[in-house]
Amino acid sequence: MPKIDDPNLLVGISTADDAAVYKISDNMAIVETVDFFTPVVDDPYTFGQISAANALSDIYAMGAKPLFALNIVAFPSKTLPLEVLEEILRGGAEKVREAGINIVGGHSIDDPEPKYGLVVTGIVHPNKVIANSTARAGDVLILTKPLGIGIITTAIKRGKASQSAIEKAVSVMAALNREAAEAMIEVGVSAATDITGFGLLGHLLEMIQGSGVGARIFLDRVPVIEEAWEYVRNEIVPGGTISNLEYVSNCVEWGEGIGNDAKLILSDAQTSGGMMISVPKEKEVLLLNALKDRNIIGAVIGEILEGKNITVVCQS
Ligand code: CO
Ligand code: CO
Repeated sequence: MPKIDDPNLLVGISTADDAAVYKISDNMAIVETVDFFTPVVDDPYTFGQISAANALSDIYAMGAKPLFALNIVAFPSKTLPLEVLEEILRGGAEKVREAGINIVGGHSIDDPEPKYGLVVTGIVHPNKVIANSTARAGDVLILTKPLGIGIITTAIKRGKASQSAIEKAVSVMAALNREAAEAMIEVGVSAATDITGFGLLGHLLEMIQGSGVGARIFLDRVPVIEEAWEYVRNEIVPGGTISNLEYVSNCVEWGEGIGNDAKLILSDAQTSGGMMISVPKEKEVLLLNALKDRNIIGAVIGEILEGKNITVVCQS
């Protein structure tokens, strides 16, 4: 992509952030994001909900407020009944309404494989953008959803997932990151991003490289949907997760006792994952309480340090 030279572009592609931020006046900037993917669960309504929650998440990760959304749809109208599409769109519309906004248009094409997602437009004050590239040494890292979603959705596709694993993964994926965003806006934080396709370590690497810092992760503090451990031991791992681990490996120092299963979990490609928030140490308790007030469990999973690599250790 060519380099962009526009003074109103506050956040563009250079820092691998969650959404673009474009200033339109001294007190308003537009936040714009697009996300879509193929079904991660069998039920079309649930797929619609998950895809919408995932698309909205990039608005929340910037500390912004969503305004409206557009549908992006690919659907095999000759091989699947249109009722399936209706259910996908109903799931998306209801999730977007839960976020307090509406879907106001969109575009669809005929395609052999169904795909669904949203373009979401939001607003933020130009001075209140929460970027992923402004973490500071001394911050602590807080994660708001458990890992293991990619491994569990792969188990679903292979018919190996238990009912309880499916239910846990679906409720995690369909949950909005709105409350987590409200809490971090209220408290004031250094940086944030949501955990999606590049996994915890991939998104953390973007954060530390953009911020010019290093990080340490405590494996025992990272929340994981329990069944993911069993599936990863049985080699149920998505291709994206394996590529993520390869991609980050040059920049990660593994502590003693970190096995390959743990490396894969920390690299697991998430769909609609949680928010990873970098907050100054003195505001840690404030943020944890603000999350708790909104029924979100924040896990302190690590810290930001001077340096440039990620260190993963077994215990804090
Ligand atoms: Co994102
Ligand atoms: Co995204």
